Amino acid sequence: MPEVRTATWIQGTSGATARARALWSGDTLYLLAQVADPTLSEQSANPWEQDSVEFFVDPGNGKTRGYGDDDGQYRISFSGKTSVGGPLDPAAVAGNLTAAAKAVPGGYVIEAAVKLPTITLRDGTLLGFDVQVNDATGAARTSAATWNDATGQGYRDTSHWGVLQLRH
Ligand code: BGC
Ligand code: CA
Repeated sequence: MPEVRTATWIQGTSGATARARALWSGDTLYLLAQVADPTLSEQSANPWEQDSVEFFVDPGNGKTRGYGDDDGQYRISFSGKTSVGGPLDPAAVAGNLTAAAKAVPGGYVIEAAVKLPTITLRDGTLLGFDVQVNDATGAARTSAATWNDATGQGYRDTSHWGVLQLRH
C-alpha cells in the first residue's frame, strides 16, 4: 500500500506521529511503522499510555460498532512489548501477532506480522484497518494520533477505521 501517516489527532494536537506501510503474503499481513518520537517512556502501567503503535485489523471489513471475534487491536511498545485488545475474548486474536521494535535516532521502528487465519487473502481483499500512535510523556499519554478514526473509540468501535485493499 502507499505509505500512510497518522495525521488525525484523537488526543492533543501535536506529538508523536508514524508513517506506516503494509505488505501481505500467504495468510499474514506484514506491517511497518516508522515513528517520530524523541522522548520514549514506558512508565505507565497502562500499555496505551506507553509510547506505542496500535494496528487495528478487521479481516471482514464489517465496519461494525463492536468488535467481532476476528477483529483485533494489536499494540507494540517502543521496546517491543505486545498487548492485544478487541473481542470479548481477546484470546481469539492474541496469537495472531508477532512483532519487533528498534530504537532509531528521533524515534523507533516497529515491524509486525498479523496472521489472519479466518479469511483467504487474495488480490483485491478489503480489510478494515487503522494505525494509532500513543505518545507518552513520563507516566501519562500526552497525545494520540490515527490514520483514520477521529472519534478516539477505535479500541471498541471498528466502524471508523479505514480500508486497506490488498494488491499483487
Ligand atoms: C485507546 C485507549 C483505550 C485503550 C484500550 C487505546 O487505543 O486510545 O483510550 O483505553 O486503547 O486498549
Ligand atoms: Ca513519547
